[in-house]
Amino acid sequence: MSFQLNPHVTATQEPPLGETSGWVAAGLANPDLPVIDAAQAVPSYPPAEELRAHLARVVQDPASAFYTPILGLPELREALAADLSSGYDAAVSSDHVAITCGGNHAYCMAMLALAGPGDEVILPEPYYFNHEMWFAMQGIKAVRLPCRESPEGMVPDVDEAARLMTNRTRAILLITPNNPTGTIFTPARLKAFYDLARARSAALVVDETYRDFRPDEAPAHDLFTQEDWQDVFVQLYTFSKVFSLTGYRVGTIAAGPRLIAAIAKIADTMNICAPRVGQEAAIFGLRHLAAWRAEKRRDLLARIALLEEAFQRHQPNFHMVSKGAFFAYLRHPFTGEASMEVSRRLFTAQSVLTWPGSIFGSGQDAYIRLAFANAGPEEIEEMVARLAKFGATAA
Ligand SMILES: Cc1ncc(COP(=O)(O)O)c(C=O)c1O
Repeated sequence: MSFQLNPHVTATQEPPLGETSGWVAAGLANPDLPVIDAAQAVPSYPPAEELRAHLARVVQDPASAFYTPILGLPELREALAADLSSGYDAAVSSDHVAITCGGNHAYCMAMLALAGPGDEVILPEPYYFNHEMWFAMQGIKAVRLPCRESPEGMVPDVDEAARLMTNRTRAILLITPNNPTGTIFTPARLKAFYDLARARSAALVVDETYRDFRPDEAPAHDLFTQEDWQDVFVQLYTFSKVFSLTGYRVGTIAAGPRLIAAIAKIADTMNICAPRVGQEAAIFGLRHLAAWRAEKRRDLLARIALLEEAFQRHQPNFHMVSKGAFFAYLRHPFTGEASMEVSRRLFTAQSVLTWPGSIFGSGQDAYIRLAFANAGPEEIEEMVARLAKFGATAA
């Protein structure tokens, strides 16, 4: 007799990367066109050279191989608190932050602290699939809140969220700038969700993985300045994207002391500490890479502008319903066709690799996601030209 697997884990969807990378492995691309990979959201550039040189020195010190405190190196917690305080015009202290093994780990720990089997969480749809996968594994009910097309992008409605909440609702989860849609929620919308969460004694968990790539220089929201923010707001962040450190696994949680104390228990049990080398990289980044960070932001904003110009020029038969950070969310012209099939055909005909809307939730078959941050500026023009050719084949 073989052992049994946790049925919650068995019932959870497979990592969705498999399907689309399978097309690449199977050589399904058009052999006459080089592949343009607009599927996974990874910065297309290496970490800063001075950061790499710094780490090369750090690893020579045997101390760099040892555990750090559970919640992270004090210097990193200080530097992050200062960064949050200046980024949000707020007074965030190092006691309010915990260092994690990346953004996904920050999310899983925060949700573990907030919700257990049978509890409910409001999950805007389309969602970042790993968020939903955690709920499935934990036996948490993900109550889907549809995001709808609007001039602001794809947005969830606060009144609709209020109607979906019950006395089992432990949290409302938002991502801004959003993955997969790129939509950046306004400070007013975020505040309305904050007020709702507060009124229902739930947490407002906001994943701000892409916060460094907003066009607006003003703070993304004023939630850290609310008098009772520590009882309501939980911010998730990661150094993966800002310093191009996806493999170093270092992220953060900012929250009030009750949640941070719960995180200490979870982290001690789960990972003991985040990788020290990743933490050293993040410290260096926060202390020395302000100019590099600003330059990467400008580069990305320039790419969004290029994408929009290319859409103007080529007028592809795809409607860009929202854009921001690394992503554009496109409504495709093949009405009624499953988005998986549209993405697959786009790859075989034009060698452009995208992710279908269907991997981000139900009701998403009309859309595909373009992670254009992966593409260099030259590739963006070419990608849109190919989208136009493919879109022209729609009836
Ligand atoms: C919204 C969001 N949260 C978290 C993550 C994961 O970040 P990390 O690589 O730091 O775990 C991603 C990565 O794509 C993301 O898009």
